Amino acid sequence: MKVLGIETSCDDTGIAIYDDQQGLLAEALYSQIALHADYGGVVPELASRDHVRRIIPLINQVMKQADCRPDDIDGIAYTRGPGLMGALMVGAAVGRTLAWTWKCPSIGIHHMEGHLLAPMLEENIPDFPFLALLVSGGHTLLVDVTGIGQYKIIGESLDDAVGEAFDKTAKMLGLGYPGGPIISELALKGETDRYKFPRPMVNRPGLNMSFSGLKTFVLNTWMASDQSEQTKADVAYAFQEAVVDTLAIKCRRALKETGYRRLVMAGGVSANKRLRSRMLELAKTSSLDVFYPQQQFCTDNGAMIAYAGLQRLSAGEKDGDGFSTTPRWPLGDLNAPGID
Ligand code: KG4
Ligand code: ZN
Repeated sequence: MKVLGIETSCDDTGIAIYDDQQGLLAEALYSQIALHADYGGVVPELASRDHVRRIIPLINQVMKQADCRPDDIDGIAYTRGPGLMGALMVGAAVGRTLAWTWKCPSIGIHHMEGHLLAPMLEENIPDFPFLALLVSGGHTLLVDVTGIGQYKIIGESLDDAVGEAFDKTAKMLGLGYPGGPIISELALKGETDRYKFPRPMVNRPGLNMSFSGLKTFVLNTWMASDQSEQTKADVAYAFQEAVVDTLAIKCRRALKETGYRRLVMAGGVSANKRLRSRMLELAKTSSLDVFYPQQQFCTDNGAMIAYAGLQRLSAGEKDGDGFSTTPRWPLGDLNAPGID
């Protein structure tokens, strides 16, 4: 079964074709970073318009790359939510129209389920159950995963998502967008013992997190400093350490609570090298297996949507007649494939 995946929930147009026998056949991504850079964040209306411009040429490109004709496609998966309403509408409209024209089923996929399953695109995949740490620009979730579509949220950020905290911190320091990769690069030049920022909510029981106080702490530190280039790097370093440490503490706690020995990390922030090395350290000391996608599949992409779509379409799930997107959609509301 070959599934065409379409991702347009935010500022990346991602297209891919995934085959249940041969794996990923082709994929392409158009990033809108340059378009939004001047604004320091995503401008929803510009995002929608750019998806409209890019989506059809990208689909043509991927179809050609995979040597597929419309007849070869058995189903179409698009991101139905959560995300920006206008951006989602573009992917949903194109996905559903193609499915109707090509006479194949379509399915609307939850963006975070796409992220959560992205490690399944790799060679070495985790067995169920496992603990998932989902860290993106919009979400910070600890999920008890017992199977595809069986997601129990056991911890989350009460305010800013981790990626958002990276982006806002970068903006405060006068750095570009998106902030995550820039901060992690700058942190390499930071001095290790100059600042120590608080690890929010680690002294309280439970698995919830909070990152907005840390952001304010960074701002106050920066405003009171000499604002030199070295200070900027030192602040970036201390901020990243505080975030990574907090996530590691919460994951250790969640693993203890669930008794699981497998940890899956996914979402844009899972591309962070320091976070990865910290989790691998944790793995060494506590007989834990850690899984994460390759760099390009940590951030938004079409392959994860095609893969999630394949799981659901092959179980007989498909869209009804109505057309809808779901900009707000709790991950915990999903069911196992094939169950309404
Ligand atoms: O998953 P994603 O592409 O989009 C959402 O679903 O939100 O995640 C984007 C987020 C941005 O906030 C970006 O700054 C962050 O992921 N990010 C990183 C890194 N690469 C991307 N954060 C920290 N370190 C990175 N290397
Ligand atoms: Zn995402």
